[in-house]
Amino acid sequence: MIELAPSILSADFSQLGDQAQSAIDAGGTVLHVDIMDGHFVPNITIGPPVVASLRKTVRNVPFDCHLMIENPDNFIEAFAQAGANWISVHQEACVHLNRTLHLISSHGCKPAVVINPATPVHTLDEVLDIVHHVLVMSVNPGFGGQHFIEGSLRKIESLARIRESRGLGYRIEVDGGINFEKAAECARAGADTFVSGTGLFAKRNLKAAVKKMRELAVQNARKNRASPEQR
Ligand code: DX5
Ligand code: ZN
Repeated sequence: MIELAPSILSADFSQLGDQAQSAIDAGGTVLHVDIMDGHFVPNITIGPPVVASLRKTVRNVPFDCHLMIENPDNFIEAFAQAGANWISVHQEACVHLNRTLHLISSHGCKPAVVINPATPVHTLDEVLDIVHHVLVMSVNPGFGGQHFIEGSLRKIESLARIRESRGLGYRIEVDGGINFEKAAECARAGADTFVSGTGLFAKRNLKAAVKKMRELAVQNARKNRASPEQR
């Protein structure tokens, strides 16, 4: 199944609950929540209390918490308790990545790993069998509204190829600069989970934008890929 995850980073934070719910009502299937600490990335966003508040408003979809923070082990329990369902950590931020992914699972959340644009796919070889998804950053993390980095397509293709050859079931998510055109290209490359902030929230008609992006992703999705549904 194709998942579309609106990123609330591009929402109006004075109306966060309403805007998040609107993106889900419009057809978003997962809510992407960007957590930034001002150290791992040069920006600061929100922490567990805001996630917990959002959870009271948005109840019916998984929360995909993308941790762009140093020492994520210290915060995993707090995000799980706040209502996170999927928790992704950066390969670049984890000295003991295997331990961190198991820690996420131990709190009842789906574990995922993220790679920055400069990080090669092969650095994930030893964890691909224990992740729910791999998140390919198609911009340098920290800000919304940046341009898609083209090399990300090759990384998505390579993850799809490895998934097939090893018979694994992880999802392939892409985040950064995803507009209609890039969603279609990433779907053709093998992505099945699409994060979009500006590409949705900056449109006048959010509902129409979500619908169109979802349709493009579904129409262009690769056939005969390994089935991520099994996870
Ligand atoms: C960037 C964040 C993204 C961001 C994407 O560091 O991880 O989730 O919201 O925003 P757009 O879709 O505008 O590139
Ligand atoms: Zn993100």
